[in-house]
Amino acid sequence: MAQAAAVGALLGASTAFLAPSAAPAPAPALRGAPHSSRDSTGPGLAGAAGVGAAALGLGLLAARPAATACRAAAVKKKGVKVVHGKEIPWNLFSPKAPYQGKVVENDVHKQTLTEPTGDANWETTHVTFDHGGKVPYIEGQSIGVIAPGPDKKGEQPAKIRLYSIASSAVGDDQTSKTVSLCVKRVVEVDGKFANRQKGEDKPDKAGTAYPENQVYRGVCSNHICDMTPGDEVLITGPTGAEMLLPEDPEANIIMLATGTGIAPMRSYLRLLFHDKAGASSDGGRKFKGKAWLFMGVPYSKSLLYDDEHQTYKKAFPDQFRYDYAVSREQKNAAGQKMYIQTKMAEYAEELWEMMQDEKTHVYMCGLKGMESGMAECFGPIAEKNGLVWAEFAKAMKKADRYHVEVY
Ligand SMILES: Cc1cc2nc3c(=O)[nH]c(=O)nc-3n(C[C@H](O)[C@H](O)[C@H](O)COP(=O)(O)OP(=O)(O)OC[C@H]3O[C@@H](n4cnc5c(N)ncnc54)[C@H](O)[C@@H]3O)c2cc1C
Ligand SMILES: NC(=O)c1ccc[n+]([C@@H]2O[C@H](COP(=O)([O-])OP(=O)(O)OC[C@H]3O[C@@H](n4cnc5c(N)ncnc54)[C@H](OP(=O)(O)O)[C@@H]3O)[C@@H](O)[C@H]2O)c1
Repeated sequence: MAQAAAVGALLGASTAFLAPSAAPAPAPALRGAPHSSRDSTGPGLAGAAGVGAAALGLGLLAARPAATACRAAAVKKKGVKVVHGKEIPWNLFSPKAPYQGKVVENDVHKQTLTEPTGDANWETTHVTFDHGGKVPYIEGQSIGVIAPGPDKKGEQPAKIRLYSIASSAVGDDQTSKTVSLCVKRVVEVDGKFANRQKGEDKPDKAGTAYPENQVYRGVCSNHICDMTPGDEVLITGPTGAEMLLPEDPEANIIMLATGTGIAPMRSYLRLLFHDKAGASSDGGRKFKGKAWLFMGVPYSKSLLYDDEHQTYKKAFPDQFRYDYAVSREQKNAAGQKMYIQTKMAEYAEELWEMMQDEKTHVYMCGLKGMESGMAECFGPIAEKNGLVWAEFAKAMKKADRYHVEVY
């Protein structure tokens, strides 16, 4: 990526995608950046993370010449990591010294995004924490949350759980002081493990309870899903460099998400199509490429952020495409269960064509099975073109165009 391109990010999210004035005909930067970090730098952060105020200002994401980047990597500054010659926020808060944030009301969604489906684990929530500007992050990163516990082996507090960040760098309220997550509540009834014996399970915040059964309630997901505004939350991170957006505003972004794997995609879409930070001076968007989201969920009642996706589709019909696979309600023409790869197979030629363009990036997040699903979908077309899908995917990965976070 041209060094000039990255300079846009140096200017912060309010100017992300902007061409740096000093560079000749540069490609503007696509990736967002925490934008109010200059005024949000407090003594707490400098102390806790061991980084000075200057590093926490707009320079946090500064583009640097390769040599400087190498030096920075060699020096190993605390709180930052050099990725493709740029510094990004990195583990500002550790499990031993987490940031204590507060839960805030979300201004777009009710906390629960899904409706009961009959499954014990039907609920997914959208939760927003106030971090006071002390936990800057960029789109595609994750944070850790420490629940009070007890954990699986009785540990108190519990070990950290990672969550992909679902808000863009500026946060849902665009103050750069909040971070949002999309969390599925883990509830298992009469399964292999139990932390509630018969008679012990009580209604959670959404009213779900199984007092007649042995129940396992996920330690951290239940802690988060039961939070109410004003509650305290212990945050670590940010971390993650696999799912970062490219700098090029003309890049094409293909997004594949199963369930809560939608979290990083939501953060991208906010930057691309919603935030002031992504608006251009001509009234359009700084993002000039195409974005195509494929989302896989079990029920239509579990289609996460569908309202936002429909809004983008209506407002940006030439730039945003949205398809979903509802596995337990839809089938394809051959009568097969509709998984995300089944849906993508309907557009295999078009997607294959897009992937030949070096401006196209694929982002995949959610269940592990998605990767083999891609092979199922694109294996035949790759073969038709004299290629092996696994090799093609490997080459895309090497070119930093194939981003996978599944487990
Ligand atoms: C990079 C990354 C990003 C993530 N992003 C998200 C996200 O955006 N949203 C989201 O909802 N989740 C996300 N996760 C998953 C998240 O980190 C948690 O794993 C998830 O919330 C479950 O945690 P929990 O504490 O609720 O469940 P846990 O209490 O950890 O339970 C998890 C499982 O452990 C099993 N178990 C219980 N006891 C035992 C035992 N003794 N031995 C073995 N197994 C046992 C349970 O049956 C249960 O299925 C992400 C994970 C990673 C790695
Ligand atoms: N950064 C990360 O790594 C990250 C972030 C967020 C979430 N996650 C993980 O992503 C997963 C999402 O879980 P969830 O409970 O939120 O999802 P969910 O609501 O259960 O939805 C998952 C969907 O994927 C379908 N599916 C099952 N097997 C599949 C396969 N082989 N290929 C394609 N689709 C398949 C499911 O169908 P059926 O159930 O009908 O078979 C369902 O429709 C979890 O494992 C979560 O921990 C990872």
